[in-house]
This record gives sequence, C-alpha cells and structure tokens, in this order.
Amino acid sequence: MNALSAAPKAQPRVALVTGSAQGIGEAIAQRLIADGDLVVLLDIAPAVKDTAARIGATDSVRVDVRDIPALQQAVHDVANRFGRLDILVNCAGTCGRESFEDLSPATWQRDIDTNLTAMAFACQAAVFPHMKAQGSGRLINIASVSGKVGGIGPVDPSGGGGRSGAAYASAKAGAINLTRWIARQVGGWGITANAVAPGPIASPMAAGGEYGVSRSPIPRMGEPAEVAAAVAYLAGPDSSYTTGTCLHVDGGYVLA
Ligand SMILES: NC(=O)c1ccc[n+]([C@@H]2O[C@H](COP(=O)([O-])OP(=O)(O)OC[C@H]3O[C@@H](n4cnc5c(N)ncnc54)[C@H](O)[C@@H]3O)[C@@H](O)[C@H]2O)c1
Repeated sequence: MNALSAAPKAQPRVALVTGSAQGIGEAIAQRLIADGDLVVLLDIAPAVKDTAARIGATDSVRVDVRDIPALQQAVHDVANRFGRLDILVNCAGTCGRESFEDLSPATWQRDIDTNLTAMAFACQAAVFPHMKAQGSGRLINIASVSGKVGGIGPVDPSGGGGRSGAAYASAKAGAINLTRWIARQVGGWGITANAVAPGPIASPMAAGGEYGVSRSPIPRMGEPAEVAAAVAYLAGPDSSYTTGTCLHVDGGYVLA
C-alpha cells in the first residue's frame, strides 16, 4: 500500500461532511456510511440531527461554516475524538440568483464566505495538524460547473435573475483553484485534494429551476447519489494518483 492509499479497510475511515443535512451532502454522507466509514455530519440547519439519525451517521454538529473558529474547532473535535481524520468533504453551499444589477454586498459576502472561505479554513484545520501528522487524507471540495462557465440556469435576456449568481460562480471558480493550490502543497504528505463540479442536480437548491437539460448530452437532471459516487471514488484507494483535478458530474451539460 503506498502512502496515498486510504486508511486500511480493517479500520473504518473517519469522515466529516459539511452541508449534509439534506441534498447532495446528505447523499455523500449516506454513500460513505454505506462504504463502511464513520461519518460526522455538519450543517447550520437544526435538521442535521434528524438526518444523522435517519441515515446512521456517527454524529452531527450544528455549525455555521462562516464562523471560522467554530468550523475549525468542529474539524479538530472530530479528529481528536476518533484519533484521525481521513476524509473531509466541503459541501455546504448557498446560491444567490440575483441579477448583476441587483447583487448586494450581503449576498456577495454570504456566497463567498459559505462556498469558498469556509472551504479554505476547513481544509487548513484538517491538514494542520491531523492529515499531515497521519501522512494520509482526502480533501474533497464540492464546486460547480457554474465556476467553469460563469453560472448556470435560466437566463433572463432582460438581465434579470435566475442564473446562479455572480458571487456563487466566482466562489465556485475559486473553489476549483483553491483545490489545485492545496493539492500542490499536500501531495508530498500523502494527502490528495480534489474538486467535484456538479451540473444541475435534483436537490432542494435546484428545485423549481429550469436548466434546459434536454439539450445536455445526457438529457436529464443528475441525482445527488451520482455526485456521491464521484466523491466515493475520490475518497477511495482507486484515486491514489489523482490530485488537483476537478471532476465534472454534469451529464455533459457544459458541452451543450
Ligand atoms: N444542486 C445543484 O444543482 C448543484 C450544482 C452544482 C453544485 N452544487 C453544490 O453542491 C453543494 C450541495 O448543494 P445542494 O444542491 O445539496 O444544496 P442544498 O441547499 O440542498 O444543501 C446545502 C446544505 O448546506 C447547508 N448550509 C448552507 N449554508 C450553510 C452554512 N453557512 N453553514 C453550514 N451549512 C450550511 C444547508 O443547510 C444545506 O443543508 C453546494 O456546495 C452547491 O453549491 C449544487
């Protein structure tokens, strides 16, 4: 087994998944639990407790990921409790859809803080000291194809809202490059860092949106479990030589 392999199967891996009270994060947690991992859910929503009970998570914690000290403490608490942290999935996200004209500083700050800043500081707390000290770890950051193509969703020709907003698209583009930056630093320590960029996925965030998926090579919305499958690959031993990448799970949406 080389240094980049995940922890031995005999010992359950320990995973923390942010934004996991519902939607894609819940599906990721469910998949990791099915794969035999000890999974702690983290979310701002009180429902995270019920979700954890429903899907058989090891524990849950209520944290606003924009509160960086609380977020980093939650990462340290999980690692210290189990003696290791093998997998961190940054999935918490918010998506303003205002037009550029209507974009407010408050929406800009919320989406940058939730989608990008929290990701950076959760990764920092996971690596220093835990993953670096154990010589292994998987950082998996949920970006979006919005960060590749400048926002997706309904385009109002008059300039109105609907498309995933400028703050969200900027944050997700940042998430992809943040992941590359971290990957360059941590590879020598046995840690990989990868992003996943979903396209239109049938989750609460995308509910009611018209994404024109009939024009996609795979002409349907994606399922949260299909994003979770990509995360499972990046969390597992088969991706031992993959780092700094951004895996699209979008049915070819960005090709359409
Ligand atoms: N659904 C899509 O089409 C789609 C496409 C591309 C990327 N994504 C990304 O996938 C991730 C999950 O999205 P989803 O579709 O499941 O959305 P969702 O709205 O269903 O779930 C997001 C979760 O993040 C939590 N969250 C939001 N702000 C938080 C905060 N400040 N602190 C802690 N938790 C917070 C919410 O409570 C919720 O449980 C997000 O990062 C999103 O940007 C979604």
